[in-house]
Amino acid sequence: MKVTISRKAHFNSAHRLYRKDWTFEKNDAVFGKCNNPNYHGHNYELIVGVTGQIDPETGYVMDVKILSDLIKEEVENRFDHKNLNLDVPEFQDLNPTAENIVVVIWNKLRNKIQADFDIEVILYETPRNFVTYRGE
Ligand code: NI
Repeated sequence: MKVTISRKAHFNSAHRLYRKDWTFEKNDAVFGKCNNPNYHGHNYELIVGVTGQIDPETGYVMDVKILSDLIKEEVENRFDHKNLNLDVPEFQDLNPTAENIVVVIWNKLRNKIQADFDIEVILYETPRNFVTYRGE
């Protein structure tokens, strides 16, 4: 009997979508306004789901406080009020699209959560645009 527990979190970050190896014109054609050299911001909303067996002793899949502390340490403290391109090492050479951000977050959490739990990360870049990654 597997149950998914989920925790919502939030961070504000700036980014610019572009490739260093493309001309400005090509970046502009592909990424449009998101290629603004002066960056722009998003209010990112995050939902992390952890699926596993209920521990018969505690009745928990995982103590949600442990999950919320993990999200704070691994995601909020590193991404909130940061420029993803400039301040976050993972995006030095990786375009900080919502797709790439959700994979980076998933990998950070995967390293900290026991392998017998499945992890799903949903990242909203805007209230209407969101991406999902389950490690597949
Ligand atoms: Ni953007």
